[in-house]
Amino acid sequence: MAAFTRRVFAPGRVNLLGEHVDYLGGSVLPMAVNLGTTIDVRYRTDGVSDVVHLRSDVESDPANIQLPVGNTAGMLPPWSRYAAAVLGELNTTAGFDGEITTTLPVGAGLSSSASLEVAVALAAGFDGDRSDLAKLCQRAEHRATGVPCGIMDQLAITSGVAGSVLLIDCNDLSIKPLDLPDGVAVHAVHCGVDRRLVGSEYADRRRECEAAEATIGPLREARLSDLSQISDPTIRSRARHVISEMERVRAAVGAIETGDMTRFGQLMNECHVSLRDDFEVSIPELDQLVDRLRRVPGVYGARLTGAGFGGCAVALVDQSVSPESVGGWRLSPSAGAQVIDLP
Ligand code: GLA
Repeated sequence: MAAFTRRVFAPGRVNLLGEHVDYLGGSVLPMAVNLGTTIDVRYRTDGVSDVVHLRSDVESDPANIQLPVGNTAGMLPPWSRYAAAVLGELNTTAGFDGEITTTLPVGAGLSSSASLEVAVALAAGFDGDRSDLAKLCQRAEHRATGVPCGIMDQLAITSGVAGSVLLIDCNDLSIKPLDLPDGVAVHAVHCGVDRRLVGSEYADRRRECEAAEATIGPLREARLSDLSQISDPTIRSRARHVISEMERVRAAVGAIETGDMTRFGQLMNECHVSLRDDFEVSIPELDQLVDRLRRVPGVYGARLTGAGFGGCAVALVDQSVSPESVGGWRLSPSAGAQVIDLP
């Protein structure tokens, strides 16, 4: 059998601040992380060129995807839908074999699905810029899951910079890397409950934010004083989260620039309260985990990260704190997705 000729690696991501604002054109502060998805790729030489075969070390069943890809709904095993949707978006017609290994926890809020999408696109030969790669994978996520996700995950994964948090303006997709100050560590800790209900709840939150925009205009230009024009209390709360979160991101950029991690941690804590009470995407297990993390000496702040409804909390920690006292994964800000041609 022919040897593998290409290796691709796509990291996961953790978001430090700016939650549920990307699909409203807000700014976010994620970083690509040192855990991710690797695919070793062998291009077909046996004449069977219209099937993509993928095997994954974290899935029991392989994916055998017939090209060209049409509808991915109902495709089995379920994980193959992410890969198939990417191949469909790329109009891939040449088959290949891929061996997938992943160091990312699946379904934990660290973007394992976006990481897989970006890795599959590069394995299939995507050859364009990082923003187009992110947009293609975002379309694939919509196609595979029906969840109308924003662009943050895919863009953080394609555009990561070692040592930096990314300030991404999700309105114009510009990216400014900001150095994470020395002496600071980032942890992701799983709350023990995998993300649940995320599809329909996510779409509901988006609709509620759009309802707020129908009354007060784009939330990225709104102020907290505009909220009094919204009569529905649920819609008002959703908008209050979004407007206050956009303010927190602006304040957090100042905190990173001045190295004020105490301030950054306070903003993370405030974000969790806002996600819990106004946006209602937390669950008791995440609330308890965040409370525990905040009591660990040397933790600046903690909050749920990603869409919510389970998965991980993220904590900003003084590097002198022992990893065991915080738990989970100590993550470092890493480079974005890469292609390595094997000898
Ligand atoms: C998920 C989505 C992102 C973003 C976050 C919430 O991770 O994929 O686009 O909306 O939720 O901030």
